[in-house]
Amino acid sequence: MKLSQDTISEIQSKLEIEEVVSDFVSLKRKGQNLWACCPFHHEKSPSFSVSPAKGIFKCFGCGKAGDSITFIMEIEGLGYVEALRHLAQKYGVEIEEEETTDARQEAFNEKESLFIVLNFAARYFQNLLRNSPEGKSIGLSYFRQRGFNEQIIEKFGLGYSLDEWDGLLKAARAEGYTEEMLEKAGLIIRKEDKNGGDRFYDRFRGRVIFPIHNLTGKPIAFGARILKPDKKQPKYLNSPETAVYHKSDVLYGISQAKQAIRSQENCYLVEGYTDVISLHLSGVQNVVASSGTSLTEGQINLIGRYANQITVLFDGDPAGLKASLRGIDMILAGGLHVKVVVFPEGEDPDSYSQKLGSTAFQAFLQENAQDFLTFKAALFAKEAANDPIKRADTVKEVVASIAKIPDPIERAVYIKECSRLLDIEEELLLKELNKLHRKKLEQESRKASRGGYSSSSQTQAPAPSSAEGPGDDSYYYEFPPDFQPDADQPPGFSPGGTRSAAPAATTMEEVVALQERESIRLLLNYGINKIEEEYHLYDYLLQEIEDIEFQTPVYQEILSTFKEKLAEGQVVDAQYYIREGSPEVKKLVAGLTVEKYDLSKVWKDRHNIHIPREEELLEKAVFQNVVRLKFRTVQRLIRQNMERLRTAAEEPEILELMQIHASLKSSEVELAKYLGIVVTK
Ligand code: GTP
Ligand code: MN
Repeated sequence: MKLSQDTISEIQSKLEIEEVVSDFVSLKRKGQNLWACCPFHHEKSPSFSVSPAKGIFKCFGCGKAGDSITFIMEIEGLGYVEALRHLAQKYGVEIEEEETTDARQEAFNEKESLFIVLNFAARYFQNLLRNSPEGKSIGLSYFRQRGFNEQIIEKFGLGYSLDEWDGLLKAARAEGYTEEMLEKAGLIIRKEDKNGGDRFYDRFRGRVIFPIHNLTGKPIAFGARILKPDKKQPKYLNSPETAVYHKSDVLYGISQAKQAIRSQENCYLVEGYTDVISLHLSGVQNVVASSGTSLTEGQINLIGRYANQITVLFDGDPAGLKASLRGIDMILAGGLHVKVVVFPEGEDPDSYSQKLGSTAFQAFLQENAQDFLTFKAALFAKEAANDPIKRADTVKEVVASIAKIPDPIERAVYIKECSRLLDIEEELLLKELNKLHRKKLEQESRKASRGGYSSSSQTQAPAPSSAEGPGDDSYYYEFPPDFQPDADQPPGFSPGGTRSAAPAATTMEEVVALQERESIRLLLNYGINKIEEEYHLYDYLLQEIEDIEFQTPVYQEILSTFKEKLAEGQVVDAQYYIREGSPEVKKLVAGLTVEKYDLSKVWKDRHNIHIPREEELLEKAVFQNVVRLKFRTVQRLIRQNMERLRTAAEEPEILELMQIHASLKSSEVELAKYLGIVVTK
């Protein structure tokens, strides 16, 4: 089948990139664009931007970019036509086919065909639950007994599989699905018979079915619970890994929960299918299950797209509880906040929510959620009260968790809090923390020297690919609506301009260097200009950058010479450096002076418009340069300070560094105001 041109145009006319993308990540508006953590690579601060005006997305971290259709293709692993179909569904566009042939033949790749066959199976199971005598009498009555109503059965697409060897197989064959596809989808199992031929049979038989959906609500796998007690059969059976089902990246209930997770800014984490559904029945919709195992990094990242807090619901089983605590460190390492709720002994979220009813259960969750680290410290403190050896273990346990937190300031806060809870000196905890950091650093340097990082080291944000790509791990900046990627370029440069004398900056160092270069350019070309009577541009510039040391040696050299000569009563200019400077200085200054002239001329000639000459804009230019230079310098200092915080061990040092951090941040915000830049966190 081909989509008719009308259909395609209609879809395209309705596309809102903002809407398409926000099904997958939580977008926050800053200025004209929207920002989020990139769904295509791991990161902790947003470098993924969406421009509603242009209808495109771009990640400054990993470089992925495109429009609504490419976005869906990439994130869902779909071909072009399938992506269009997906979008048609989203916007309720009726699909007109140009020639109607069998849908299955049009499936362009394996994933697409798996989605189709899995969707068929899901509908098949749903239909059996509602309409077959066996499904109704066994499956439906079981769900009713569990308190599941019609609405919830629909919402989660619950179904039933007949107690037969080939119920699904037969139905699928009749519809033209091949055994190969069914097997690849994990729906049937192949077995060799006595004659060496292949025999196939259904994986799920005589069970109620819980479809597992991807983010957009497509069934990608199934969980199935047995109904009659049978010692030889496991209570729950699950689909195997397939091309569309990677267990470690999937969370049960995410498609039904994602909006609520975003709006509540919290995600409850439970054990399995029935817990998720029971919570929905109790009016709690921001809940997912990790499918039996402990959370993976992929699952944590997935939740992190929607909220930065996870609340883990624990069964009231003390032994199991302690065993599960370690798994939580991984959430901390993902930069998310963690809370825990512990249920009374013998209760799980499913049983307890039914016992209490919606209102009381919601209140229970609210009142019993406690900060994970505080909870952990208190748990161990109780045990260790009178046992010095246990106390030592406790310190190790608690500090091991704190060490996982990426934010140094948060770490420091927890050290303080835990010191109080455990009644152990902060210094001792810090010592332990430092030990762990050293260990980690050693491991990392060993790994690095062995040649390259493992894939997990991708948590380090890749270098931003654009001048202003907010790729830094700790900060990002939002630029004003008229922001151009080369806002750090000297004024007067036309974007993508006629000359590439000033290179585009890609790292913080280069951005700083560009501003230094601009200072020198202004100083040498216009230093002697008067801002006021007897007050020169160089007076202003030198005064403003008095306590800034240029990072680029050659610019610092030029600046120092200028100051020395000034002290001797001589105001040097570009000609002086071209005459007297080192070869490097000569070349550089020659390049800078060229920039003085022809930019406005080029514009005038080409566009026949009046551009105010740079002199006219000079005051503004110098002021901007000074502010930018300071801004970049402050940012550099913040980074350096953060580095030191990361490795600092002693309390007085940490406190001092934190104070420095705070004052640098406030200078940054102050300076940013002048530049019209919004600084976050
Ligand atoms: P009963 O309490 O005996 O009626 O069974 P249950 O279906 O409620 O399961 P159980 O209480 O043993 O399990 C607790 C939670 O874990 C429930 O939410 C189950 O749905 C879930 N669960 C159990 N086994 C699995 C499994 O293999 N995979 C997944 N994803 N969830 C499971
Ligand atoms: Mn149960």
